[in-house]
Amino acid sequence: MHTARFTLDPAFKVGEVNPRLFGSFVEHLGRCVYTGIFEPDHPTADAEGLRTDVLDLVRELGVTALRYPGGNFVSGYKWEDSVGPAEDRPKRLDLAWHSTESNRFGLSEYIAFLKKVGPQAEPMMAINLGTRGVAEALELQEYANHPSGTALSGQRISHGDKDPFGIRLWCLGNEMDGPWQTGHKTAEEYGRIAAETARAMRQQDPGIELVACGSSGQSMPTFAEWEATVLQETYDLVDYISLHAYYEPHDGDVDSFLASAVDMESFIENVVATCDHVGARVKSKKKINLSFDEWNVWYLSRWEAQAKTFEQDDWPEAPRLLEDNYSVLDSVVFGSLLIALLRHADRVTVACLAQLVNVIAPIMTEPGGPAWRQTTFFPFAQASKYGRGEVLDVRVDSPTYETKKYGEADLLHATAVRAEDGTVTVFAVNRSQTDALPLEVALNGLDLTSVVEHSALADADPDARNTLDDPERVAPHQIEGTTLQDGNLTAVLEPLSWNMIRLS
Ligand code: AHR
Repeated sequence: MHTARFTLDPAFKVGEVNPRLFGSFVEHLGRCVYTGIFEPDHPTADAEGLRTDVLDLVRELGVTALRYPGGNFVSGYKWEDSVGPAEDRPKRLDLAWHSTESNRFGLSEYIAFLKKVGPQAEPMMAINLGTRGVAEALELQEYANHPSGTALSGQRISHGDKDPFGIRLWCLGNEMDGPWQTGHKTAEEYGRIAAETARAMRQQDPGIELVACGSSGQSMPTFAEWEATVLQETYDLVDYISLHAYYEPHDGDVDSFLASAVDMESFIENVVATCDHVGARVKSKKKINLSFDEWNVWYLSRWEAQAKTFEQDDWPEAPRLLEDNYSVLDSVVFGSLLIALLRHADRVTVACLAQLVNVIAPIMTEPGGPAWRQTTFFPFAQASKYGRGEVLDVRVDSPTYETKKYGEADLLHATAVRAEDGTVTVFAVNRSQTDALPLEVALNGLDLTSVVEHSALADADPDARNTLDDPERVAPHQIEGTTLQDGNLTAVLEPLSWNMIRLS
């Protein structure tokens, strides 16, 4: 087996990692909220009904920005339903997920949840531009952020929230390019309403940051033209454009699935090119950054099959939806997607793992029962903990393999992050299903002398997973024999593995 190689040099860097790269997403969908983060009757629930066993895992996961309340859900959301005394809140049909929304958990509970996660957690609030518009966005902003002295801020105070919520980061709708979206729009229609809403929200507070909807996938027929049209209307008014991408194996093609990050990286680079093209057209010095605010492995085809079985008159509360159980294989692809985000940290400054609990999530729960970590939990927690600092430019010289979807792909996918104290963490995936991959890294101009740890996630059974019955079946293990001598790092990456190598 050939050796994969790259060189690290502090003079060659991509950019600083924004902590918001480790965001996640809480949608009113299935059991993400109810019996996920919120379950008043649960033995671990606190006074506010939040599951403290889940809170502990959320802290361990290391999430930062938490996008809320959707997703497709937001396009029918009436924020007023979700505030005030819980017993007075109306039940509503949720058209997006064919469910009943009790509104028992709402805006105030979301902010309380974030506070309990800790100071690293930040609100990222989506507004409804599907069935609603400028007026409702302004009202929500005033209710949430205005200190006092107006009807809406007074209402918040009377509801028990004296302090404003201080929501800085706002999404202008969700996936408005998608025909499935309630209130789906053309790029021209969306560009106009996004610009009008952004202008008005900035009149209320020029300091907010706004995310315009980009495409809900690179394969959308309107991709790139959508971004160009929307940005032509909104360039000076927004800070970010959103990207969404989900991956799953198709027709058993594991080789292509393992190379999903090839698609993710090209998606990022195409959106950057489009943003900069519009920037040139409107003669602006400003750069639009990327908010990759939904990404994950998602067995979407299973959800599509499940959706076909729904009875029209059945509108359950918090049903089990999108509860994918992730394997080791899934976590290796997932880790590679994380690497793709880090490799573009100069322009991807917000990213949200979709979602946080139960719904295509790193954390699973059982109502009245335990909470546990899926395989995807580990790469995220490690990257969030050690992937802070400056991303170094990594150009791999790697053996390759053939994929049906992406042609020849590198077996090695890698990035490296240099922390403020000079320590470096390498994140690497070996995409080979059969062979270990020897790795050599030349360290130029980095004062590094020892390997702190080489942690790997791999298993003789790539289909191994954590489940309710066996919640600790899969976890990272330490690799012996990784060395650093005279500025050369030498390691062997197990077949189909996610790796974190820390150097000091
Ligand atoms: O994350 C699940 C769904 O995927 C979201 O609600 C939607 O925005 C996307 O299509």
